[in-house]
Amino acid sequence: MKPRKTAQPKFATRAIHAGQAPDPSTGATITPIFQTSTYTQAGLEDHKGFEYSRTGNPTRAALEACLAALENATYGLAFASGMAAESAILSLLRPGDHVIAGDDLYGGTYRLFERVLRPMGLDFTYVAAREVSGYAAAIRPQTKMIWAETPTNPLLSLVDIAAVGRIAQERDLLLVVDNTFASPALQQPLDLGAHIVVHSTTKYLNGHSDVVGGAILTSDEKLYSEMKFYQNAAGGVPSPFDSWLVLRGVKTLAVRMRQHGENAQAIAEYLNGHPLVRQVYYPGLPTHPDHALAQKQMRGFGGMVSFTFEGTRDDVDTFARRLRVFQLAESLGGVESLCCHPATMTHGAIPAAERERRGVTETLLRLSVGIEDVSDLIADLEQALEAVSARRSRPGAERQHAVAGRSSRTRA
Ligand SMILES: Cc1ncc(COP(=O)(O)O)c(C=O)c1O
Repeated sequence: MKPRKTAQPKFATRAIHAGQAPDPSTGATITPIFQTSTYTQAGLEDHKGFEYSRTGNPTRAALEACLAALENATYGLAFASGMAAESAILSLLRPGDHVIAGDDLYGGTYRLFERVLRPMGLDFTYVAAREVSGYAAAIRPQTKMIWAETPTNPLLSLVDIAAVGRIAQERDLLLVVDNTFASPALQQPLDLGAHIVVHSTTKYLNGHSDVVGGAILTSDEKLYSEMKFYQNAAGGVPSPFDSWLVLRGVKTLAVRMRQHGENAQAIAEYLNGHPLVRQVYYPGLPTHPDHALAQKQMRGFGGMVSFTFEGTRDDVDTFARRLRVFQLAESLGGVESLCCHPATMTHGAIPAAERERRGVTETLLRLSVGIEDVSDLIADLEQALEAVSARRSRPGAERQHAVAGRSSRTRA
């Protein structure tokens, strides 16, 4: 009899099952939380594959296998945060090495590059994220890596992964893609030519705003071995419980991303053209400069929408204080909707002048659109925008607002 060909399970199926066979010792259907630091060995060098939980833990191993399956990677490594994962990737470099990065990226990544690694002898050049030719033009003999975040945080530009991947291939450089904003439900950078994918699993992968975590996915055995060595040597690993929470969160990734995208599209369309809104950044809008690339590269436009106010920082503050369903908070990718002011929150680590130059202005807000009923979300935005209009029309509003702001800061 001919052996039956088994097709690779589809994405939503992998998200629920990959790396998670029933527990062999008990039959537990759901991977247990192996809350142990160590493992009893039968004799010298005679163990079941686990010796110490910094080096390896079965719950973490299940998560690493699952995330690798979602990114079409051979290997996965999980970390205690996205920044710990980024550090492991950058441990591949040596003093004198040069990295090219898009100029719109998470503020913590910029801080790691500029405040930790530059003083240790690494060099960084920032190029316009969406201009493919800029990456090629910035290459020098010392260049080892291209670092691309796509869509970018917070301005939602896209990097053409396949085009930049070809440049990396031709010039023998590593292409790293931070896939946090899209998640593997919407794009798989390794299939487009990236060598390494990095995630803040804190965001869409976990999806419930109750874990800080990170992950690296690759199909290159040598890169994996080096980063695995660093993971164990530097020790920034996630706890078994956090690994389990991400593993559980990932099971609903496919349905969550569909709803995030649907809600975000409706919100971007609502904000676009509102008299208090200057500009909306969302790749699902046909007017977005990367809309065509998004249609080609992604399977949906994601749940992040940024916009600038036609007004002042005080208008932004009034709006943010007035939101009821959206929470004013850092982070993104959870089922609940969040509103972030990048200039004072996620991108505060970038010097003010440089931040402004990059377009992260005082009137920019970034929405992580959750999966609540979209009519409640739009009603929430509407009443907060109305509060801004009402304040503007009150005489002396600027002064009253400033006094209220001061008193609340004193309380905090
Ligand atoms: C795109 C992106 N990459 C990396 C990180 C860092 O991840 P973590 O906060 O889990 O360390 C963040 C955090 O916001 C992010 O938005």
